[in-house]
Amino acid sequence: MTTRNGRASAGPHAVLPGSFDPPTNGHLDVIERASRCFGRVTVAVVVNPQKQRPMFSLEEREAMLKECTAQLKNVSVEHFRGLLAEYVNQVEADVIVKGLRAVSDFENEMSTALMNRSLSHVDTMFLMADQKYSFVSSSIVKEVFFLGGDVAALVPKPVLRIMTAKRAGLQRSKK
Ligand code: PNS
Repeated sequence: MTTRNGRASAGPHAVLPGSFDPPTNGHLDVIERASRCFGRVTVAVVVNPQKQRPMFSLEEREAMLKECTAQLKNVSVEHFRGLLAEYVNQVEADVIVKGLRAVSDFENEMSTALMNRSLSHVDTMFLMADQKYSFVSSSIVKEVFFLGGDVAALVPKPVLRIMTAKRAGLQRSKK
């Protein structure tokens, strides 16, 4: 952990879970904030998000996150299957970290945090992403991008590169 005066110090181990399908600048902002607050941050990619079949494979999502976080020395990228509560116990995390964009995110996150605490005794802490990312979600980025819109300001460069390759592949397979 780097303290405000720039000194390195050990600190709690945080798990930052998500689908990251794909990672956005909002995700990266929260990961950077967490890396300054905790000794060690494990970004944990869920293997099969419940919401929908992911557009990006687990390998692609992990590779994008690894490239985007390479400069953050206390951040690692892993994946998990099944219950988050079991995973945080398995890796002996001290805390789960989630990003919040708006008050509306909090409603769902509160019940999830209480459930995860009752299952694992690990608390969830919330970090606010920068307000300029308050409208940015993976779903909106995917929709706009695959309909031809410009998302360069919303995702990290390595993500844009992989998204562009995926779109080109999809267009080729449609021909
Ligand atoms: O980026 P997302 O899609 O908002 O992340 C959601 C995620 C992966 C954190 C959540 O779906 C999750 O924890 N899934 C693991 C399954 C689980 O533990 N479900 C019970 C939650 S109370």
